[in-house]
Amino acid sequence: MKIRVQVMHGVNLDVLGRRPSEHYGGLTLRELEGRVQGYARELGFDAAFFQTNHEGEFCEGLHRAQERADGLVLNPGAWTHYSWAIHDALEVAGIPAVEVHLSALDEREEWRQASVIADLCLGTVQGKGVEGYREALEMLTRELNP
Ligand code: DQA
Repeated sequence: MKIRVQVMHGVNLDVLGRRPSEHYGGLTLRELEGRVQGYARELGFDAAFFQTNHEGEFCEGLHRAQERADGLVLNPGAWTHYSWAIHDALEVAGIPAVEVHLSALDEREEWRQASVIADLCLGTVQGKGVEGYREALEMLTRELNP
């Protein structure tokens, strides 16, 4: 059976393609998901995708994650920097997770440099655009196929 990965996007990532391209590139979310699906296939994952602009829905997605996935790739958008609710829901998920950001957070505003989920993640990939998702999947492969 293939390893199942759930790729979860949070607030404002549905409008990729309309956000500053110097930070986020020019792909729409659908195009980005298509690219990530390709990486997942190459690495032998079965990938599913989820996006919401509602924090409670994101938390509920995490509550259900264990039934649907063996690992998570998370880009919660701005929630990353302050949502302790998402931190606690990720703890409930209880499966390996990698945090991804399209932009280079360490070169941006100070408030973007805090992540409330980093302590629960295997690692963080940032500033690599869509390629960062491949790196995140590779981290999950190493964790789930020891
Ligand atoms: C982001 C970075 C966040 O600071 C921002 O709020 C986003 C996207 C990224 O992918 O670079 O919405 O998570």
